[in-house]
Amino acid sequence: MAGTQQPEVNIGLVGHVDHGKTTLVQALSGSWTDQHSEEMKRGISIRLGYADATFRECPDRDEPERYTVEEECPDGTESEPLRTVSFVDAPGHETLMATMLSGASLMDGAVLVVSANEPVPQPQTEEHLMALDIIGIENIVIAQNKIDLVDSEQARRNYEQIQEFVEGTVAEDAPVVPVSAGQEVNMDLLIQAIEEEIPTPERDPDADARMHVARSFDINKPGTTASDLTGGVLGGSLVEGELESDQEIEIRPGREVEEGGQTKYVPIETTIRSLQAGGETVDSATPGGLLGVGTGLDPALTKGDALAGRMAGPPGSLPPTWQQFTMTVDLLERVVGSDGGEIEEISTGEPLMMTVGTATTVGAVTSAREGECEVNLKRPVTAEPGAKIAINRRIGARWRLIGLGTLQE
Ligand code: GTP
Repeated sequence: MAGTQQPEVNIGLVGHVDHGKTTLVQALSGSWTDQHSEEMKRGISIRLGYADATFRECPDRDEPERYTVEEECPDGTESEPLRTVSFVDAPGHETLMATMLSGASLMDGAVLVVSANEPVPQPQTEEHLMALDIIGIENIVIAQNKIDLVDSEQARRNYEQIQEFVEGTVAEDAPVVPVSAGQEVNMDLLIQAIEEEIPTPERDPDADARMHVARSFDINKPGTTASDLTGGVLGGSLVEGELESDQEIEIRPGREVEEGGQTKYVPIETTIRSLQAGGETVDSATPGGLLGVGTGLDPALTKGDALAGRMAGPPGSLPPTWQQFTMTVDLLERVVGSDGGEIEEISTGEPLMMTVGTATTVGAVTSAREGECEVNLKRPVTAEPGAKIAINRRIGARWRLIGLGTLQE
């Protein structure tokens, strides 16, 4: 069953296609698909691939058997909630890996799912571990999945391959938990490992709220009369601070305005009319999981993701908006994926696609030096100095991830 607590920690779920991420989340939450249909009912279809799971314990039982997601213990007593976690399903596609890289602050840890019945590593197992390594996500649990499909000798060999593969990476000391998500085997061990390895980070209760807006909607049915219109809705994640119903917020860079053939961005201020977190309507929300923020904005402004990629927080508190910036650059050694060629230095004049938080923007390099470059952006972004930037270059017909930047003051 879906939890009723607001999730307090975001856990990236990564791994190769078909290794069982979705099945694993289903086994832990039972809410993967449900959640979408409920959202549809409410008219807010947030499809970022977040699913909440409430971990519980049966205090009278030993470890690991005490860990469960069931509300009832085997002896018929009620289990006690430990915490609700939000799983962020990082899609296998590499352009979306950019979002994962730049949204590093959204992820407090990761579960790497590796199939026991295939040689290690498969391409995305490697890509995703590389991403975790670059971002520096250190709290990792490895789920060795589908153990029901192998015998103990194969499982042992596969385990050794995993150990060899993670050697020298950020996942070197990560526990490897053999599970079968399909048969729900060892879920208690996996929960125990997550509880121990991926703690809820300490948050600064006085920090200004920072919400990364990932989507925005008009949830009104066509033909709704003006007096019945519900204000625009923002979907995204809070990375710091707290948001409250009835509070004023500012959204930057704001809305796009055409003026004399030029595109400008105008900051927007509005009031929070309603808040949804962990699938519930709440009066206040803290970081963890996905938020739906109902506002007083004209829904025409939020329709069709028009405000995706913006940042929201108390008026006057938001970090600078950049039309151009300097970033230090760490290039990957080679292009991620099977055809990976070597990556050449960034050159002056070349176009780049950059993801900063939830914002994606194209820019031209105005000056490139070793390890650093200046870019002029087509669309401005609001971001804190020090923010991580996923850098993509056009190679052939596609944008390919070539490195990670850090926004300079
Ligand atoms: P993508 O979303 O495409 O990346 O895949 P995924 O990693 O979410 O994998 P998914 O959960 O969709 O599982 C892929 C297939 O493996 C499905 O047919 C599952 O039923 C099967 N599967 C997942 N876990 C297990 C398991 O523990 N044992 C067995 N036998 N099959 C499993």
